[in-house]
Amino acid sequence: MVAFSRFCAALTLLGHGVTASRALTKRNDTESYSTNLLHESMDWLDMFYDNERGYLFSLDSATLVHETRSSAWYAAGLLARNEADDAEQAVRIVTNIIGGQFKDESQQWFGDYEKYPEEPTVGTEQYEANIYNSWDPNWRGFVGTTFALMLEEFPHLIPQETQDYMLESLFNNTIGDSYRVGGVDTDNLYPAYSNPSIMRAFVSGWVGRRANDSNMTTAGELYAQEVIDLFKRDNTLSEFNSGTYAGISLFALTLWAKYLPQDSVMGQYGGEMIKYTWTSLGELYNANLKNVAGPWDRSYGYDMNKYLSILALQMWTLVGKDSAPMNAKPYAMGHKNDFAISPLIAILAPFHNTLISNSTLSALTAFPGTHSVNTSAFSPPFDTYPRKITAWISDNLTIGAESFSENIIGGPAKNPSSFNPAVVQWSRKDGSVGWLSLYAQVYALDAETGENYLSLSYPQGNFSNGFSFLVGTNSWTGRRDVASWADVEGISVNVTGTVDQNYTVTFNGANGGAGDPINEFEFWNFTYLMPRGSMEVPRVRLEFELE
Ligand SMILES: *[C@@H]1O[C@H](CO)[C@@H](O)[C@H](O)[C@H]1NC(C)=O
Ligand SMILES: *[C@@H]1O[C@H](CO)[C@@H](O)[C@H](O)[C@H]1NC(C)=O
Ligand SMILES: *[C@@H]1O[C@H](CO)[C@@H](O)[C@H](O)[C@H]1NC(C)=O
Ligand SMILES: *[C@@H]1O[C@H](CO)[C@@H](O)[C@H](O)[C@H]1NC(C)=O
Ligand SMILES: *[C@@H]1O[C@H](CO)[C@@H](O)[C@H](O)[C@H]1NC(C)=O
Ligand SMILES: *[C@@H]1O[C@H](CO)[C@@H](O)[C@H](O)[C@H]1NC(C)=O
Ligand SMILES: *[C@@H]1O[C@H](CO)[C@@H](O)[C@H](O)[C@H]1NC(C)=O
Ligand SMILES: *[C@@H]1O[C@H](CO)[C@@H](O)[C@H](O)[C@H]1NC(C)=O
Ligand SMILES: *[C@@H]1O[C@H](CO)[C@@H](O)[C@H](O)[C@H]1NC(C)=O
Ligand SMILES: *[C@@H]1O[C@H](CO)[C@@H](O)[C@H](O)[C@H]1NC(C)=O
Ligand SMILES: *[C@@H]1O[C@H](CO)[C@@H](O)[C@H](O)[C@H]1NC(C)=O
Repeated sequence: MVAFSRFCAALTLLGHGVTASRALTKRNDTESYSTNLLHESMDWLDMFYDNERGYLFSLDSATLVHETRSSAWYAAGLLARNEADDAEQAVRIVTNIIGGQFKDESQQWFGDYEKYPEEPTVGTEQYEANIYNSWDPNWRGFVGTTFALMLEEFPHLIPQETQDYMLESLFNNTIGDSYRVGGVDTDNLYPAYSNPSIMRAFVSGWVGRRANDSNMTTAGELYAQEVIDLFKRDNTLSEFNSGTYAGISLFALTLWAKYLPQDSVMGQYGGEMIKYTWTSLGELYNANLKNVAGPWDRSYGYDMNKYLSILALQMWTLVGKDSAPMNAKPYAMGHKNDFAISPLIAILAPFHNTLISNSTLSALTAFPGTHSVNTSAFSPPFDTYPRKITAWISDNLTIGAESFSENIIGGPAKNPSSFNPAVVQWSRKDGSVGWLSLYAQVYALDAETGENYLSLSYPQGNFSNGFSFLVGTNSWTGRRDVASWADVEGISVNVTGTVDQNYTVTFNGANGGAGDPINEFEFWNFTYLMPRGSMEVPRVRLEFELE
């Protein structure tokens, strides 16, 4: 039994790691954009609040069950808004969440939070412990960072007793998170798994300082150093260029920079890592298409105008909702539940946004002209060499891809549905975006991009391999049926290589076709196989011309 009386002492203010040395040109806009993001997202979340239980209903409205993570984010938003009884409700929610925190130190999920209060007991015969399913190890990071942010930003709105309870919760959270070791017990937390790694290091470093537990502080610092070493290799996140997870990593790096002191490596490097991450995103961004060019290590969609990415929420605070890849009705977009993290993005924007360079900021609204990008990212223990990223980005056509050799298929997340190693996007006459993405099916890919072309080969492949390109559906007024490249709107495509020229086209749709949509996107599947018995290396080259 651990005693927590030591948390009863007054909370000490931590020094701020990076002071905003330079005011953003549009500093005032940032303030109004982030206020606007806070209120729009809170208006939407309010509709899901169950005042009777003091918890948010599931955003999927699944038979009125509730959900923990979005409840925590909402509670932070309540404190930021602080109207009527907002603060009181926030305290109720937090107390309820901690009430459901796992308390048995001997379990792998100790210190984590139940996904929803109605769930059966994790680890029973009927409800087996199934990582990322019946329990989610990353929720320690999501809820823990949110609690720390609340304690940093709004201590005056939280009763001391609740603050102590939150710190107790964070302490258990950190202990439980220390059980995570990539490759052990089905866990996958390596330093290269950027978003939870950055959250883990922060929570451990922050809680260690608050609780005067130097071992915890040191553990956070050491883990952070591993993340930093990987980053500094080429100033990129290992979990590269993901509309969703680059957003989480930027959020967590902001906590490093804002809440940890200069004697922390996190306080020292957080700001710089944010700046470099945005530099790379800015180079890959095409403001005409409102999309970050591929490749995407982990994406939940193929067109940022149609699915809600956390990066787009950050862009909302930088350039305003209208100029960001954001529909007027965010809650109608794909992956819309991520709108629930908006309060955290809005709260941190005035600080985070000062770290972005002028040229990056300008690239978010005006395309700077045709250019190419070369960079790399490294994810041990999966990569045999750092992934080599190349992109060619022009006004209305972007082509981005990465070469890699890994010991798994589908990237470090082992998920071919989110690993998009070669992506092409183009603008169509009505302003909408066409796209194609290579479906990940192999351990190794060699990719080259350049003016109007994408060249791919499978260095370890043979006649049994094929190339499947998932191609987005045409625009509202475009052709509904697609049988060949000629039917794909806005672009013409020539294909050469060692593949059989005779390709197949099938449809994956919500209500029919050859298979289901991926990431909620319907698509046409253009597949090229190798000629029967071919001895050649599988190779394909796509040449594009805008129509
Ligand atoms: C941590 O140490 C500081 C300085 O000695 C003290 O003021 C504070 O109360 C301690 N906090 C806890 C939670 O023990
Ligand atoms: C920007 O904000 C500052 C401080 O809040 C204020 O003094 C100034 O008038 C504002 N400028 C504009 C152009 O709104
Ligand atoms: C923290 O863990 C201990 C067991 O180590 C448990 O007794 C306590 O209730 C937990 N606290 C919370 C807030 O879950
Ligand atoms: C830190 O770790 C050392 C060595 O394992 C141990 O002796 C010490 O008690 C730990 N301190 C705390 C506060 O847990
Ligand atoms: C950014 O732009 C502002 C206003 O144009 C300027 O004062 C500032 O020096 C610029 N900062 C950098 C790093 O170029
Ligand atoms: C990227 O690499 C390619 C091939 O080596 C080269 O042609 C191109 O100029 C490079 N682009 C940049 C921006 O460095
Ligand atoms: C890109 O598309 C815009 C809008 O259709 C058009 O005005 C512009 O000329 C195009 N640029 C190029 C280089 O084709
Ligand atoms: C061809 O590749 C497949 C899949 O990688 C592999 O299982 C098979 O052994 C290879 N066949 C030959 C003849 O190399
Ligand atoms: C290739 O074309 C022939 C007829 O020309 C057809 O019988 C065959 O099924 C096609 N193969 C594929 C892979 O589509
Ligand atoms: C695409 O089509 C090919 C050929 O029919 C099929 O083998 C493959 O599974 C399909 N890919 C997806 C992602 O549906
Ligand atoms: C495709 O090839 C034809 C014939 O060589 C050529 O006229 C056309 O411009 C090419 N289109 C593209 C997109 O490269």
